[in-house]
Amino acid sequence: MIDVLFVCLGNICRSPLAEVLFEHKVKEAGLEQTIRVDSAGTGGWHVGELPDPRSREVAAKHGIVLSSRSRKLREQDLQDFHYLIVMDDSNLRDVKSIARHRKWVRAKIVKMRHFDTLAPDADVPDPYYGSSQEFEEMYETLDRSTEALLQHIRTEAGI
Ligand code: 4NP
Repeated sequence: MIDVLFVCLGNICRSPLAEVLFEHKVKEAGLEQTIRVDSAGTGGWHVGELPDPRSREVAAKHGIVLSSRSRKLREQDLQDFHYLIVMDDSNLRDVKSIARHRKWVRAKIVKMRHFDTLAPDADVPDPYYGSSQEFEEMYETLDRSTEALLQHIRTEAGI
């Protein structure tokens, strides 16, 4: 099993959408028995909540239902997951500062857009205070980047 965790700040806008888009691509590739997907936030303000209505709306426009509940990143996740995919530099700093305190970290910590040829290693901007246009752009960015990530994982794992 390959375990992939998408991480943002609140786990209500970016990472729940990344999780579901990636999960769809995993299923399309027939890899759902091989790759397991989850998402979490570095902050706990929205724990237990459904994704932000604007993320649900943009997903619904593309025929996708978001129904996960927000959860906070746990230290143990750095050991349990093979990949932690973060959305921006701030998430990267937060996750790396947790990693520094742990003796053993299995997860590769990688930015979501690391494999996005349009803008490698750019942030997926935090859309929380943004417009609906920003949510649509976020969708396009995540759709492209999750595709590239799956290709990378398949190549790395030889599957
Ligand atoms: P996310 O967006 O990290 O993509 O889920 C945010 C959600 C909530 C907040 C910030 C960003 N907040 O400040 O509550």
